[in-house]
Amino acid sequence: MTKVLVTRKVPDRYVEQLKEFAEVKMWDEEFVPMPRKEFLEELKDADACFITLSEKVNEETLDAAPKLKIITNLAVGYDNIDIPLAEERGVTVTNTPEVLTETTAELGFTLMLATARRIVEAEQYIRDGKWKSWGPYLLAGKDVHGSKVGIFGMGDIGRAFARRLKGFEANVMYHNRSRHRIAEKELGVLYVSFDELLENSDFVICTAPLTPETKDKFDRAAFKKMRSDAIFINIGRGATVVEEDLIQALEEGDIAGAGLDVFREEPIAPDHPLLKLSNAVVLPHIGSASVVTRDRMIQLSVNNVKAVLQGHPPITPVTDK
Ligand code: DGY
Repeated sequence: MTKVLVTRKVPDRYVEQLKEFAEVKMWDEEFVPMPRKEFLEELKDADACFITLSEKVNEETLDAAPKLKIITNLAVGYDNIDIPLAEERGVTVTNTPEVLTETTAELGFTLMLATARRIVEAEQYIRDGKWKSWGPYLLAGKDVHGSKVGIFGMGDIGRAFARRLKGFEANVMYHNRSRHRIAEKELGVLYVSFDELLENSDFVICTAPLTPETKDKFDRAAFKKMRSDAIFINIGRGATVVEEDLIQALEEGDIAGAGLDVFREEPIAPDHPLLKLSNAVVLPHIGSASVVTRDRMIQLSVNNVKAVLQGHPPITPVTDK
């Protein structure tokens, strides 16, 4: 019997679709990852596995899964998976591009506005009973309209972010591993070097995936190059940032603020140093978390499993390019 392992609880309507052609073993928790030991155990006779970012796919994982044909990752990013090794073992890997682009850009935009206008801090101000009167510079923040925004990573999400900025009449520059001529033409975004992006932006937005080239890209030197009134937003991956360096930059005023949806180690604990800083807005990795988008991501993952197990090409394969 064909077996599909699902490492996180998903709604019954998706499980039913998988059950039409396979036996389904699903971890029954939505907010707690499947323990590694159990994951490896269940992989022994699995033909497909439907995983989240919490599951690391490395040599140990693939060694434990001799029958595996497809890994479907419930995310567009796939830094949790050793892609060359999966390819070497003949295991197809799929992700969830496109369906989450707009929702993730929207969250990034929310985070930028919230950080710029000090929304979390302002609400806390009322809750703490500090609001006594209107004041000319009370919780005064930074305008997004007319600002200079530097986007690091001009993929689908970077472009969706730039499109939104048009309505704010912002001047958008970007840095990417390669130039995106269509985005330049359609969105009027300007390609600049990484240093130029850091030195000139009011807002630096990281939408980049985690790769050997982007790992630790935002370090002490990078934050030092940024303007002291600049705000850093990260909706890509946490490990693009050296977190201690970011904390130091925020504490010492090298930059004005940060809005973060991703962290090096997730989840972060309530006593994480970033949570002590009033100029940091932190979210629990909810970039693509709208109900409709999560539905679409799950459906796409189910469709990928079904296609591959029924001998068809995957819909959204990830390759080691
Ligand atoms: C992704 O898709 O890579 C997100 O970070 C998870 O929603």
